Amino acid sequence: MVQLWKVKKSVELYGIDRWGAGYFDVNEEGNLVVKPNQTAEHGADLKKIVDQLVAEGDRLPIVLRFPQILEDRVKILNECFRQAIKEAEYGASYKGVFPVKVNQNKDVVQRLLTIGEDYDYGIEVGSKPELAAAMGLKFKHDALFICNGYKDDDFITSALYASAIGRTVVIVVDAVQEVFRIISLSKKYKIKPLIGIRCKLYSRGSGKWVSSGGEVGKFGLTSGQILDCIETLRENDLLEQLKMLHFHIGSQITEIRRVRKAVIEAARVYSKVKQTGIDIRYLNVGGGLGVDYDGSRTPSDSSVNYSIQEYANTVVYTIKDICNEEAVDVPNIVTESGRAVAAYHSLMVSNVRGKISMDYEVDEVDPGEDSPKVVRDLYEVWRDLTAKNYVESFHYALEMKNDMVSLFNLGHLSLRDKAVAERYFWASCKKALKFARVHKDTLEDFDELSKQMAHKYVFNFSVFQSFADYWAIGQLFPIIPIHRLDERPTEYATLVDITCDSDGKVDKFIDIWDVKDKIELHKLRENDPYYLAVCMLGAYQDTIGDYHNLFGAEREAHVEIYDDGSWDIIKKIDGDDIANVLGYASYDKRGLVNNMTRSIKEAVDANKVTNAMGKRILSRYKKDLESYTYLKQN
Ligand SMILES: Cc1ncc(COP(=O)(O)O)c(C=O)c1O
Repeated sequence: MVQLWKVKKSVELYGIDRWGAGYFDVNEEGNLVVKPNQTAEHGADLKKIVDQLVAEGDRLPIVLRFPQILEDRVKILNECFRQAIKEAEYGASYKGVFPVKVNQNKDVVQRLLTIGEDYDYGIEVGSKPELAAAMGLKFKHDALFICNGYKDDDFITSALYASAIGRTVVIVVDAVQEVFRIISLSKKYKIKPLIGIRCKLYSRGSGKWVSSGGEVGKFGLTSGQILDCIETLRENDLLEQLKMLHFHIGSQITEIRRVRKAVIEAARVYSKVKQTGIDIRYLNVGGGLGVDYDGSRTPSDSSVNYSIQEYANTVVYTIKDICNEEAVDVPNIVTESGRAVAAYHSLMVSNVRGKISMDYEVDEVDPGEDSPKVVRDLYEVWRDLTAKNYVESFHYALEMKNDMVSLFNLGHLSLRDKAVAERYFWASCKKALKFARVHKDTLEDFDELSKQMAHKYVFNFSVFQSFADYWAIGQLFPIIPIHRLDERPTEYATLVDITCDSDGKVDKFIDIWDVKDKIELHKLRENDPYYLAVCMLGAYQDTIGDYHNLFGAEREAHVEIYDDGSWDIIKKIDGDDIANVLGYASYDKRGLVNNMTRSIKEAVDANKVTNAMGKRILSRYKKDLESYTYLKQN
């Protein structure tokens, strides 16, 4: 058959040029390509990277990180704000910080801070472990070091010490009681930190994280509490340390008007505080800068209806306008954008191990006059189903199927007859669906049928570990084959993972118009691995995952890409082995081996196995404990 499919069609079908933001493309060989920055001419061939890793003995799934993409994102974010500030003739500066909660990986954070030096790019922490990590990282002392989240005395003391050694630490009061702790510890250690106040806005974000903000949000101070906090600081001679007003209305804000609204409200609060004579200098607009996961550029949950430049312009111009109206100097602007910085830089690749299908093949053979009526009827439905009668035939087949189930339950049908009837039923469905697709039939029945008949591709991963936000809150990520993109994908499929959990599946996929309940994939070929990538996993997914079924962390490889598209794997990190994950559940390797040795000895003594067999079992057990938790490649 003539191959009419072109890679361009794959680019379109999977929306690569829309969600890929310039970091993804397809080469002439039909392989997915990753580019180190949005303007790069050449990119690295993902299939070749995976082939090399597999040849070197690496097992799948594997997370691939592209640190240069992180660098590109930091540059873009900072340059967009520089541009907006220049254009608006804004009288103060911009300082970004990376919120460590988005990706705590040391290589990721250190790379971001290093590339961000030219921009005084700083860090935001929200817990004691994150604070400890940040204190041990190298970055400029001028860069902001913002401490958010609920804090106890230990948290505040460490933050004070970080400030004492010269870091520009801002301790943000997230809850009323914290101000008293900060004051008392500051007096105790004679260290005066910079202080921020998180304010509770009426404005809320949009999309899946809408409940993070608003007047009943978990964090922040109301207007009355802000005034009390100011008084308390004044009474304790710490008011001159109040330098920042902060807010965060939630991640992935899908609509730019929500950003504008929140910034208006916060800029008003800032101005009123400033008008009282307090030398407050920074307005921190938090995170929320969203990412277009589905490429639709709409305010849908998986997208955003604005660009980074539009976001920067909105923040800068809005603050300027409000401060002009209120006749106060404009503040330095801080953002805590994490998702937009980290999302693109990593993806996970794994192999499809097989498929589960309803796709029963039937032969033309008449089941015979002797077969039960229901079997004959279903055979005839299948045989006579045409483009003209496919709707009625499908409905009739449904009725017959129900009859068949009743007959079987009443004991009037053998298992063999039931099997034959089922096969003709599904074959009729398949035929009817084919005609429905040709006629672009919008009948709901066929929508449902098409979902039921989609193949289930068994993908070697755990949804709970690799992209838990899909399972937890229905966040969508682009999923795409990394090869065969010069070939028409002829199959409709959903993905099932390898956990023993019926929630361990992916049956929602990005689409420009809607959300797809199945994805177009290629026919699986014997002895030919089929690889899929789940892209844009760099924000939140690394640590939000869990250990369901004890699959544990995936292997990791970091890839540096050169101008001509060649690449090097600069670092590899082992995934969890079985002993590791068992350790998380309080098993210790030595104890397990000892118990197993004892059981084997008892079996040998009881002549259940030979001594040689016992040795083999023990050696196998030890080897298993050291092996990767995921399935081997077929
Ligand atoms: C206080 C704070 N700042 C920043 C962020 C990062 O937000 P985003 O990843 O949407 O930029 C978060 C995450 O929700 C947050 O809670």
